[in-house]
Amino acid sequence: MRVAGDAPVTVRRLSAPHDLRAELAADVAAGMRATPKQIPSRYFYDAAGSALFEEITRLPEYYLTRAETEILGDRATEIMELVAPCELIELGSGSSTKTRLLIEAMHQVGGRRYVPIDISEAALREAATALCGDYPWLEVEGLIGDYHTDLRRLRRRGRRLVAFLGSTIGNYPPGPRRELLGEIAAALDDHDAFLLGVDLVKNVPTMVAAYDDAAGVTARFTKNVLDVINRELDADFPTDEFTHVPRWNGEQSRMEAWLRADRDMTVRIRALDMVVTLEAGEEIHTEVSCKFTREGITAELDAVGLGVCAWYTDRAGRFGLLVARPV
Ligand code: SAH
Ligand code: AVI
Repeated sequence: MRVAGDAPVTVRRLSAPHDLRAELAADVAAGMRATPKQIPSRYFYDAAGSALFEEITRLPEYYLTRAETEILGDRATEIMELVAPCELIELGSGSSTKTRLLIEAMHQVGGRRYVPIDISEAALREAATALCGDYPWLEVEGLIGDYHTDLRRLRRRGRRLVAFLGSTIGNYPPGPRRELLGEIAAALDDHDAFLLGVDLVKNVPTMVAAYDDAAGVTARFTKNVLDVINRELDADFPTDEFTHVPRWNGEQSRMEAWLRADRDMTVRIRALDMVVTLEAGEEIHTEVSCKFTREGITAELDAVGLGVCAWYTDRAGRFGLLVARPV
């Protein structure tokens, strides 16, 4: 695709749709046999799920996006002067809305290339189209796929800033999180940098409210994963007969999302040739949103060979944004 400006915009697939569907099938088959039953949250983000997440970012209770936007508004220039990247690679870029602050600041230090990677084709295509209209000088190479798969295979164009915003890292429990941070560290050369957004531990009612909004958007977002399975795997989960249950787990410092069956039910997943029974009140675990401290995340990065060289928070101290480098 080429638009009014002179910089090219391309969107290509890292993962074939049938591979993603095969992964969904394998994860659902395993998750429905587990106790408690579980569905990984990466499957939330079809076109409807991505649109619902965007709605969440505008909810009064969901402070995360506003807090991180405040930090980026204050610090994007400082971050870009510190790193001076030739390209910005963003993992789980979604709508790339906050990223605009980074893209504009990158322009000031001579960076011209943006590589968003997202599993949500709808979100990625929409973001790439909007960016190419608004920043004719920006070279955009959108990659549809799982950022685990190909991070190390990306062609190097010069100094990199890899951004992982929104506290999406919190959607990984400690083991997989360490693995992912290790993969990111392995994709960085000495002068590259990693920009990570993390939601910070705070009073429990504030955190719970962020995942239990009065308008019920988070409930629709969570239940949408059942619609994804119904469509992709020819299943018949009665989506409206589940209740969204957000819960704070203090021991593990994380919010958890569960879907509770409102009645006894038998569900057919035809593509898996599988019949699943749920008792009334039985819960399916769908998401973790881990909450961090500065010391904790610094130690986790240290363990994969990344040293924190800048740390910022919003004025209310709700959200942290850090720059880390290979040490
Ligand atoms: N970074 C944005 C969006 C966060 S929502 C923000 O801060 O607002 C999480 C995003 O990560 C979604 O767009 C989702 O599609 C994407 N995502 C989740 N798991 C992914 C994976 N394994 N690979 C690529 N993208 C993923
Ligand atoms: C994308 N991720 C960081 C969000 C979160 O806060 O865990 C997804 C989300 N789940 C419910 N609300 C928002």
